[in-house]
Amino acid sequence: MKDSGKISSFLKTGEVYFPPEDIVKNLRINEEVYEEGKRIEEFWGKISEELVWFRKWDRVLEWNPPYSKWFVNGKLNASYNCLDRHLDARGNKTALIWEGEPGDRVTYTYGELYREVCRFSNVLKDLGIKKGDRITLYLPMIPQLPVAMLACARIGAIHSVVFAGFSPRALRERINDAESRILITADGGFRRGRIIPLKENADEALEDAPSIEHVIVVERTGKRWNRYERDLTWDEVIEKQDTECEAEIMDSEDELFILYTSGTTGKPKGVVHRTGGYMVGVHITAKWIFDLRDDDIYWCTADIGWITGHSYIVYGPLSNGATVVMYEGAPDHPARDRFWEIIERYGVTVFYTAPTAIRSFMKWGDEWVKKHDLSILRILGTVGEPINPRAWEWYHRVVGGERCPIMDTWWQTETGMILISPLPFTPLKPGSATKPFPGIEADVLDEDGNPCKPGEGGYLVIKTPWPAMLKTLFRDDERYIKTYWERFPGVYLTGDAAKKDEDGYFWILGRSDDVINVSGHRIGTMEVESALVSHPAVAEAAVVGKAHEIKGQAIVSFIILKEGFDPDENLKELLKAHVRAEIGGIAVPDEIYFVSSLPKTRSGKIMRRILRAIESGKEIGDTSTLEDEKSVKEILGKK
Ligand code: WTA
Repeated sequence: MKDSGKISSFLKTGEVYFPPEDIVKNLRINEEVYEEGKRIEEFWGKISEELVWFRKWDRVLEWNPPYSKWFVNGKLNASYNCLDRHLDARGNKTALIWEGEPGDRVTYTYGELYREVCRFSNVLKDLGIKKGDRITLYLPMIPQLPVAMLACARIGAIHSVVFAGFSPRALRERINDAESRILITADGGFRRGRIIPLKENADEALEDAPSIEHVIVVERTGKRWNRYERDLTWDEVIEKQDTECEAEIMDSEDELFILYTSGTTGKPKGVVHRTGGYMVGVHITAKWIFDLRDDDIYWCTADIGWITGHSYIVYGPLSNGATVVMYEGAPDHPARDRFWEIIERYGVTVFYTAPTAIRSFMKWGDEWVKKHDLSILRILGTVGEPINPRAWEWYHRVVGGERCPIMDTWWQTETGMILISPLPFTPLKPGSATKPFPGIEADVLDEDGNPCKPGEGGYLVIKTPWPAMLKTLFRDDERYIKTYWERFPGVYLTGDAAKKDEDGYFWILGRSDDVINVSGHRIGTMEVESALVSHPAVAEAAVVGKAHEIKGQAIVSFIILKEGFDPDENLKELLKAHVRAEIGGIAVPDEIYFVSSLPKTRSGKIMRRILRAIESGKEIGDTSTLEDEKSVKEILGKK
């Protein structure tokens, strides 16, 4: 890559943007970190010293592919690292600034957050919760969510957060898989002026979830709710608790949490993260990529129900002692400048959001942003899907005032931490997540496992272990091996397609498997198909993704009805409602086509490739393995 000479300001040099000098010169790191990252054990060992350990580890890494042990025999506690360690220097510093959608506001200092977490830890202990027990959290974006997570971590319970947009059935499936003893939920949460009926959903889920002993309900909305014998309210159980609770001494390898994510089969995968490696990984990526400092006000707009919220709202920023902004609701409520209003009000300096949101803001128009003074912003971030260069440039110019470098961060639920991303000194190319983080070795491989040439698309893989890598899939080692480690033995398969350019910059092209990415949410096509075929009218269903201007991808489904059902609009609506009930709003198909046959191979496998090609108006390609061409003609006829 050609450097224009001096790294001066955000001047455009071909496709390359150079970060502003005032940011680069004040950074605590420089290019040398890449060199240091080549000696993996030494590198991560040194970084681990940034955390507080009750006992130092004996060895940084034991790698028996595909199983790793990080910081062997080290002892620590994640909650201690997010709270206790800050009490002396930052006890009165604001840890959390929370804003509800209706406009209510609460802040917690580190001291207050510590005491609240201790009190809730004591609640869990009183209910008999012990190290290793699982607890499911089904909560809106309210402070009780991070409090409950940190309380679990404090006593060694394993949390499983389920996104509040999931349906009762999806919640039930996740509770039963984890065999959780407690469910923590709320009477509801606010979204676009409406109340999401979380307690009602929870009650429905619990009709068949025998492991749950108690439900703790946060009273958020003031709405009435049905109280059963198993129900307790947050306020009544926390009230009399002591504000001290000693943090459990956890082994570095002890599980910290489970987070379910979609894969290529109908059943969600319980990604397991462990204490030591995960904390080291999220701590240092949050610190270096966002250059977090004591006077930063940091806001990540993700929902804590997803990995981004776990790693970059809760564990990463709090272990750094940052001030974290958390917002409950929609970006366009009550008006389309809600985010900009929040940035201005609290003086947000580091802002991390998703391309799908950026594209909506672009569509709503610059005037909403311009109404507010955002000049205090210094670093921007994006995550969740590839960001198209046009959206990148808009984000850079309109939101960042051409001052703020954009950290396009690539990672996954499984990777726990950001793996491919610029650092604030990295020259940027809009649309590229740039380079692997120090200590990470990524590559793009062809079908045979050979590295692709520059510019050639292939499978994105990670070739060496990293500290926040998933430990396994909950109670499913076999699936863990099969999903990630079998395609190229000893190498982690991400499921994404990518290419590398001459400068070694990575360009993510999207998923290479049967997972689609709708508004940054991972949805398995098989999951949606299973939901559809569970409806009495549906004989067969095939689901594919299609490019969508705002959402990145939209969900398109092709359905063969059973005998006796009419393919009309009404049935389409019923099927959409059915998917909403089975999985949740995020999985509802945007388009439904009724067909009489589907393109299949002679062995009966649905050829999604053909459906995808039809949807995107591309060449259909080789159809020699197709059983008969009738279905393709029929589908083309409907377009
Ligand atoms: C996609 C979210 C391009 C990718 C943290 C990955 C991205 C999936 C980026 C993981 C990015 C995430 N550029 N694509 N910067 N970040 N992805 O598990 O397909 O919800 O495999 O984790 O999102 O989604 P997940």
